[in-house]
Amino acid sequence: MSQYGFLFDLDGVIVDTAKYHFLAWKRLADELDIPFTEQDNERLKGVSRMASLEIILEIGNRTMTEDEKQALCQRKNDWYVEYIKKLEKSELLPGVENFLKQAHAAGIKIALGSASKNSPMILDRLGITELFDAVVDGTRVSRAKPDPEVFVTGAEDLGIDPEYCVVFEDAVAGVQAAHNAGMKAVGIGSPEILGQAELVIPGFANVTVNDLLQKLENV
Ligand code: BG6
Ligand code: MG
Repeated sequence: MSQYGFLFDLDGVIVDTAKYHFLAWKRLADELDIPFTEQDNERLKGVSRMASLEIILEIGNRTMTEDEKQALCQRKNDWYVEYIKKLEKSELLPGVENFLKQAHAAGIKIALGSASKNSPMILDRLGITELFDAVVDGTRVSRAKPDPEVFVTGAEDLGIDPEYCVVFEDAVAGVQAAHNAGMKAVGIGSPEILGQAELVIPGFANVTVNDLLQKLENV
């Protein structure tokens, strides 16, 4: 039995859902006559649904009532869910399923820590729910990363001390959330962007759990 706990962000770490978030937000922005590009979409990564809408409204220099904003979030999510329903196992990011299975087999406790309220459905569609000992999603937390709430809650669920928790994140705010929780962070992406993390890897292809833990012990 390992003493470690692994906490995984979902979008951009396990699966590339950013393209579906973009398609759904783009459809909404088009309806509102607000210009919205893939570059603008970068600002929405790791950001909650309502905060994402607020960024789009800011781009369009528009204001709305709370009720209007809730209705627009619902519309966007209905479209997003239509895409997610068709998600396939082949859309898992390369190597991640093997890495999760290795960690699971090594007795490492695994939690999901994501802002997405659709997390359980996505894990289900990808057929990986049973690899997780705990799921902390947007329905369970109210403070967005870099607040550590999502990872602190995950570590509590796992019963693992933060000092033995490793967070896998593709967003700068997520790396900061890990540090704010007193945990180590592995950045998934480029060192130029995620340089604050203890270790940065481009993805999970050919990464073994043992190698990774050894590298982390040396930082
Ligand atoms: C994050 C995504 O994981 O979840 C964001 O990076 C998204 O783009 C957020 O807005 C909330 O997701 P959802 O599925 O609850 O709208
Ligand atoms: Mg992410």
